[in-house]
Amino acid sequence: MPTILITGANRGLGLEAAKQYSSVGWTIHAPCRDPSKATELKALKNVTVHALDVTDFAATDALAMKLKGTAIDVLFANAGRSNPDAAQFGKIDYKDWIETFTVNTLAPFKLIEAFIDHVAASQRKTVAVVSSIMGSMGKAYGKSYPYRASKAGLNAALVNLNIDLKPRGIHFLMIHPGWVRTDMGGPKAHIGAEESVRGMRAVVDRASPETSGHFFQWDGQELPW
Ligand SMILES: NC(=O)c1ccc[n+]([C@@H]2O[C@H](COP(=O)([O-])OP(=O)(O)OC[C@H]3O[C@@H](n4cnc5c(N)ncnc54)[C@H](OP(=O)(O)O)[C@@H]3O)[C@@H](O)[C@H]2O)c1
Repeated sequence: MPTILITGANRGLGLEAAKQYSSVGWTIHAPCRDPSKATELKALKNVTVHALDVTDFAATDALAMKLKGTAIDVLFANAGRSNPDAAQFGKIDYKDWIETFTVNTLAPFKLIEAFIDHVAASQRKTVAVVSSIMGSMGKAYGKSYPYRASKAGLNAALVNLNIDLKPRGIHFLMIHPGWVRTDMGGPKAHIGAEESVRGMRAVVDRASPETSGHFFQWDGQELPW
């Protein structure tokens, strides 16, 4: 059975991804900030929980070293943050913007850098990052500047990494999960986590040289940059 590493697996979309991949027998490595509170995650089958704050890059390297020799079929960079209260023009909290950029842009890239050999050693060789339509220029409709810029930056970095790492046969997918009812998405969001993750899993299953470097939403529809 394949192996997946999911960041931010203690709640929201990450927890739902861990549940679904666990239910089909995959081996799951699930880093999260506070494993002592990750009760639901720890109760799942085939899950190894690791402590990791994704902004601690030395800890990311240490985890990669701990898992040296483990082939990771799918690296699922899911952990993310958004703070609309700090994003109002005229009252922008720039320290908060840096935190958003660190979690949403730098940390997924660092994760990929640290785990690229684990992915390259696997059968599926897939890197899936949970991006957002809010990072799309073609779908821009104002506000949320830090969050939008952080996801656009992530997409830009990965489109270029995809070009450079194509010779290694690694597939990169940027996936918008939809507007989902999680702590981040809120109760008025369009879809539930179960539907979103089911769709993202199908996108991950279709990873290939043809889909690599593209931006999809959870239902498989391609999105403009
Ligand atoms: N929900 C939506 O509508 C929506 C739409 C578009 C994109 N997304 C993206 O989907 C992904 C998952 O979002 P969600 O809706 O599941 O959000 P969520 O319910 O707020 O969960 C966020 C997850 O990220 C983790 N995280 C945040 N900062 C972290 C850090 N420094 N180190 C380690 N983990 C950290 C959180 O861990 P803690 O519990 O420790 O805070 C939590 O597990 C994010 O990348 C988000 O940008 C969501």
